[in-house]
Amino acid sequence: MTENHPNSVRPHGADGHDYLPAAGRDALLPFYDLLTRALGMPKVYNNLIDQAEVADGMSVLEIGCGTGNLTARVHRAHPRAAVVGIDPDPRALARAERKVGVGNRIRFVRGYVQKLPFGADEFDRVLSSMMWHHLDREAKTTAASEILRVLRPGGSLHLVDIGGDMTPSDGFLAKRFLRSEHAAGNLGDAIPSLLRGVGFDCTTVASQRHRGVGRLTYYRAMRPAA
Ligand SMILES: C[S@@+](CC[C@H](N)C(=O)[O-])C[C@H]1O[C@@H](n2cnc3c(N)ncnc32)[C@H](O)[C@@H]1O
Repeated sequence: MTENHPNSVRPHGADGHDYLPAAGRDALLPFYDLLTRALGMPKVYNNLIDQAEVADGMSVLEIGCGTGNLTARVHRAHPRAAVVGIDPDPRALARAERKVGVGNRIRFVRGYVQKLPFGADEFDRVLSSMMWHHLDREAKTTAASEILRVLRPGGSLHLVDIGGDMTPSDGFLAKRFLRSEHAAGNLGDAIPSLLRGVGFDCTTVASQRHRGVGRLTYYRAMRPAA
């Protein structure tokens, strides 16, 4: 466990970590970036960045940044924004740093979304790509409150993940996901309901069938201006 691990974590998967790693197992991490490209994730990252309307001078946090693909893309698209990626997996962060490097305006931090090592009102934008389904129900609730805390009033969370109005007709992987332990908190209006419950104004921006994972849904959640 990392030093700042939240109290609610429990072991996940074959490697016994207190988080579910990017590819499910440490041994598969070297193939994660290949997989994301095969699944067309670069387009999804670009959609999320456009949705977030990042601008010069903003502070942007990616929660569950994994190997840094989205964090790096934000940095390349908006070099005058300050970008931080956080993830509990040191192996993924080492890959991110090797690929992207670190600098004045991009850095990677080890930690959990349930206990963000940042002050209140620090960020203009929080981004989350394919991370929410890695959290169990209790962790999702804590995470939602933490994201609200670190966003400045008027700031926004932009989240894309498997789920939304997913049905078995979305394909084989949808059928598998619908049976999985992490699906419940991602299906139907579970994500907007949870985010509204902690104080966000949340809207579903788009929901698209996806050939790789079944269905992807994009959400925007605004911390109301004070
Ligand atoms: C499927 S990967 C997504 C990586 C990246 N966002 C992307 O879209 O390529 C999910 C990531 O969430 C991270 N994760 C799991 N539990 C977490 C937690 N409690 N807090 C923050 N990140 C977590 C995993 O380590 C993993 O890197």
